[in-house]
Amino acid sequence: MIAPPQRRALVRAIPDSYAVALGQVIGAPAIDVARARAQHVAYRAALEGLGFAVTALPADEALPDCCFVEDVAIVAAGHGLLTRPGATSRRAEVEAVAEALRGAVVLHRTRAPARLDGGDVLRVDDAIFVGQSGRSDGAGLAAVREVFEPLGFAVRPAPVAAGTLHLKCHVSSPLPGLVLAAEGAYSDAMFPASTRVVRVPAAEAYAANAVGAGETVLIAAGYPETATRLRAEGLTVVSLDTSELALADGSLTCLSLLF
Ligand code: GLY
Repeated sequence: MIAPPQRRALVRAIPDSYAVALGQVIGAPAIDVARARAQHVAYRAALEGLGFAVTALPADEALPDCCFVEDVAIVAAGHGLLTRPGATSRRAEVEAVAEALRGAVVLHRTRAPARLDGGDVLRVDDAIFVGQSGRSDGAGLAAVREVFEPLGFAVRPAPVAAGTLHLKCHVSSPLPGLVLAAEGAYSDAMFPASTRVVRVPAAEAYAANAVGAGETVLIAAGYPETATRLRAEGLTVVSLDTSELALADGSLTCLSLLF
């Protein structure tokens, strides 16, 4: 029997300049870059533990946010849409990821003046939701439609609350058919009918951003009720320290492209 191809994960190392990565929290403590790197190493190891073949791109000191590769490409069904990040300081992150994806997927580009961050793009099986946030606009939604609707995906806009950076800050789909969402964020009716929606308490909203494979979900450490609810669904939960990622508004999905 021929084994199915191993799923791939693309990540990018953390530069020293991560100390000045973008962050919304005024007065947040200084980022400990060495600790951030240790958290990144643990994340990569956890992805390998899930069976992903991990490729790590080198950091670029000119791009403090470059570890958040999710924002610069949308990859699904053998196609990759390179984004045009909403933050101008992040636009040059795209090229190294484009180079890494070339040959692995059919590449497309988001054209100016559209703005699109991958953190605003949530795939739930055959549906793709595009958050309308301070980073992603209607033209970004149109770019996703142009690439993915012909491939059979239903592409829809999703609101993002003021003050929330990205759609996936409070909702993610770590496994096929599973959505993890903060209580009060988005209605179950928004997702395909077959979707199993697990709610996390509003006080644990950060933990709604998760990744996984098989029957295992990686969540941020420090959110016990979220872990309990996922275990009650029969899933294995692995918790990862994300303190230094959160200081730059980062969470687990932000750190990888999985395909
Ligand atoms: N620090 C991640 C972002 O703001 O894009």
